[in-house]
Amino acid sequence: MNVKGISRNRILNSLSRRLSEDLNFESGKIFGSMCTEPHNFARSVYSAYLEKNIGDPGLLRGTLDLERDCIRIIGTLLSHSKASGHIVSGGTEANVMALWSARNESRKEKPEVILSSLAHHSFKKAGDLLGLRLVVIPPDKHRFDASKISNAITSHTILMIGTAGSTDLGLIDPIQEMSEISSRFQIPIHVDASFGGFVIPFLKARGSDLPDFDFRLKAVRSITIDPHKMGMAPIPSGALLFRNRRALDTISYDTDYLSGGLKPRGTILGTSPGASIVSVWSLLNLMGQEGYKKTARSCMRLTEYLYQRLTGIDGVVVISKPEMNVLGFRSSRIKISVLSRRLRNKGYAISTFPTHLRLVIMPHVTRSHVELFIETLVGVLANKGRSN
Ligand SMILES: Cc1ncc(COP(=O)(O)O)c(C=O)c1O
Repeated sequence: MNVKGISRNRILNSLSRRLSEDLNFESGKIFGSMCTEPHNFARSVYSAYLEKNIGDPGLLRGTLDLERDCIRIIGTLLSHSKASGHIVSGGTEANVMALWSARNESRKEKPEVILSSLAHHSFKKAGDLLGLRLVVIPPDKHRFDASKISNAITSHTILMIGTAGSTDLGLIDPIQEMSEISSRFQIPIHVDASFGGFVIPFLKARGSDLPDFDFRLKAVRSITIDPHKMGMAPIPSGALLFRNRRALDTISYDTDYLSGGLKPRGTILGTSPGASIVSVWSLLNLMGQEGYKKTARSCMRLTEYLYQRLTGIDGVVVISKPEMNVLGFRSSRIKISVLSRRLRNKGYAISTFPTHLRLVIMPHVTRSHVELFIETLVGVLANKGRSN
């Protein structure tokens, strides 16, 4: 630390120089992120309420009330207006909480959780932290292979996990089928709709033929849904919703020292931003169903356009027809790692999976970004402007 502080101007200059190294959304090069430019209104609301620490909820009874509204609005979107839950830091915290609560509620010895090998890696963290055995099932055509569930269930099984909007391809697991099996064995389901939660209901409302994934299915115990992904809220903003309040009670603890006199919320973090709640509430109200439908529809139209362009390129294999605004492709001629490196060398931020590269068509991606990407990809496949 400097002995004396330095001037604001010097600091700002230094920040602008050093942060120019960061990739930004306007560059048109970020095709690999499930987050996006936060909505301007939510950004300004967030910055107006930076001081709020929801880790001491008794101090923030107004914010707590806004949180109840958020859970009711999101719960209604997910077919259960009476859901309980919290606005949290993101999909990882929500997924860990879901497994934490399932473990505490079940009280089974040596608890096991059944999931697809394509489920998000936050479940590995949860398994490790919570001492859960993860029973991992290989996918069938990039989705949960429900035909393998019955054999995987044991007397130790406490939960199974379905994903609505998978990390690698944005696909929806056969959660309806999982729900039928799980009802037979009385094993609840956690649905990770971290990405798909703010997409599927709005595409369905516009007539897309997508399967049910939410609380409409009786076995669904909890759902993760992230406002900071397709909800366009500032980071950090995730949400976890439980069908029953008692699931939340299993991870709530009392403490004496909080100055507001209420017990802490049943989340993992202590001190945490109340501004997330305030900005999510504001954005949900500003956007309304129409706003989110428009956003999901416009991302989907661009994804369909990109799909069409990719399928027209000789030597490009598209992994599956996109269900939402996520698309996987590979080259029939070049190894995935080589293609990935060449695109990175051209400045592109694109996620690499063992079977493909993933593009996410978030609200910050424009038609001209897509055109430039296609042009670059064609060049890279032909090995023009080769750098390795
Ligand atoms: C399906 C899914 N679940 C959970 C997460 C984790 O979310 P976060 O990065 O907000 O912790 C992601 C992240 O991309 C995801 O794709």
